[in-house]
Amino acid sequence: MNKIVVNGGRRLSGEVTVGGSKNAALPILFGGIVTGDVCTFSNLPRVSDVLQTLEILKFLGARIRFLQSGDVRVDYSSVRAACAPCTLTSAIRGSTYLLGAMLARFGKAELGGAGGCDFGSRPIDQHLLGFERMGAVVTCRESGVVLEAPNGLHGATIPLAMPSVGATANLMIAASLTEGETEIRNAAAEPHVAALAAFLGDAGARITGVGTDTICVQGVPKLHGTHNAIIPDMIEAGTYLCAGVACGGPVRVRAVCPEHLTPLLDAFSKMGAQIETGARSITVTAPKGYQCTDIVTGPFPAFPTDLHPQMAALFCLGNRASGEGSVTELVFESRFRYIEELRLMGAAVSVRDRCAFIQPSSLQAKKLRSPDLRGGAALLLAALATNGQSEITNASTIGRGYEHLEAKLRALGAHITVF
Ligand code: EPZ
Repeated sequence: MNKIVVNGGRRLSGEVTVGGSKNAALPILFGGIVTGDVCTFSNLPRVSDVLQTLEILKFLGARIRFLQSGDVRVDYSSVRAACAPCTLTSAIRGSTYLLGAMLARFGKAELGGAGGCDFGSRPIDQHLLGFERMGAVVTCRESGVVLEAPNGLHGATIPLAMPSVGATANLMIAASLTEGETEIRNAAAEPHVAALAAFLGDAGARITGVGTDTICVQGVPKLHGTHNAIIPDMIEAGTYLCAGVACGGPVRVRAVCPEHLTPLLDAFSKMGAQIETGARSITVTAPKGYQCTDIVTGPFPAFPTDLHPQMAALFCLGNRASGEGSVTELVFESRFRYIEELRLMGAAVSVRDRCAFIQPSSLQAKKLRSPDLRGGAALLLAALATNGQSEITNASTIGRGYEHLEAKLRALGAHITVF
């Protein structure tokens, strides 16, 4: 996916079945290394971040098969202690999970570089501090980071400076196969962290406290293979719900966990959208437009940072939104790069520190460039709701997290072509 062309301004309505969560799939796929066994995965989204992860695992020796059933089978028994090349690992942020998995299994881990969306610095100091407390020797070089634990790791108490999703996941993976008890304090509670804990638990790990700010892991000497059904992608679901609010609806997302999206649904209620939730579905509609509101992002269960750009786009739509809106981004230091692109369309946004203040304004269809995964999704929403033909280049950034994007949006009535 390089370019998306949208003829916007049409009402969108219909149903979308949401795929598996990218942000659950990555730690689970890398976490499978500590099982040293065969695992199978269903509902695995074939988004580029996941395909890249499978390439990295294959380089390390894992044997991967795409089964007739649609499941993916990964034999981790043949993974060897090696360093995946930077050319592979630097494409995704999820590569950082190699550190916990390879360190616990082989006593050594090396990472040349991890990528991911550019939100300013994305340090892994909390990951490294945790591994040091568990007995690893950390060496940072120009070429990357090397972790060594020649005498093996041991249980430790690890107070995280912030509830980092990545650090919580990485340390949980390592602690599962580390003798003794490891306590991760100020742990993240995102649904994809709970999904990783469930996968490791099914593989024999002993993890308690998931969903709270303190996770305890009682390490075991050996883990075993298991099957995992990847949980629904709450951010993909939220993005399509935003499309329903932006372009009228009703839009129903299926195969979702409504409880993962409470902050978004609360915001939609404040905006005057109509919402209907079923056991595994959510329907939204806003035929007469909506009120803007104020969004503040934070660690789960606060409003998810990965849906902030999409909401900002809704607030920009002068033909749909009324009042004034704001988005305060408290998780990443700079996640506002997409705003420059919205301004090209005529958006009236002023940014002060971590807060974007938005006045709905009349937007024009334009040629835009996606800065990152969710920023690109925000531009797509603005284009879908704006009359005329817009183009979004660098669309591969959007392909990282949205599977079957063209088909799903066409099913809602969008005039969209992906090149
Ligand atoms: C994960 O990133 C997700 N990525 C992100 O989703 C998501 O936005 C983020 O969690 C927060 O929910 C994946 O799961 C692959 P963090 P991660 O560690 O693990 C700082 C998307 O759009 N920090 O919780 O990198 C960090 O700089 C992507 O799907 C440290 O300072 O997030 C950031 O400001 C984008 N030191 C904040 O904490 C550390 O050691 C949150 O980072 C670790 C993090």
